[in-house]
Amino acid sequence: MIKPDGVQRGLVGRIVQRIEAKGLKIVAMKMRTLPQDVAREHYAEHSQKPFFGDLVSFITSGPSVPMVVEGKDAISEMRKMNGATNPTKAQPGTIRGDFGLDMGRNVIHGSDSPESAKREIALHFGEAELSSYTRID
Ligand code: CMP
Repeated sequence: MIKPDGVQRGLVGRIVQRIEAKGLKIVAMKMRTLPQDVAREHYAEHSQKPFFGDLVSFITSGPSVPMVVEGKDAISEMRKMNGATNPTKAQPGTIRGDFGLDMGRNVIHGSDSPESAKREIALHFGEAELSSYTRID
């Protein structure tokens, strides 16, 4: 999911381009401002962290772009492309390494396991919103 800072800074096209160029398949995508309850659920694992309030207020502050990405090792490949959570630690060539400087405003979120992907996808998309098509590489 491209976060509000990524949308506001006009990075959506460049991020989507990287995902497609890698050979991964975007099967769902939308722009939405997350409601508070969805944001809290999305980040439920961080609910006891001191930064939780700031995280929820930032992620609901403007539109985000959730996506469903499929392909070989999609979760780990996306996490590699995203780079380290802290953009100042992320390698150049990664999305956070190239586009971010701030831990809170780190441009993109990626699911960290099949279980969290399933849970997060259900927060943003209905079954009928997932497309099926063949990628030609
Ligand atoms: P994300 O991958 O979306 O998952 C949780 C987010 O919490 C993380 O990216 C960061 O943007 C944010 N985060 C993690 N640690 C901190 C922190 N110490 N201070 C502020 N935000 C944080």
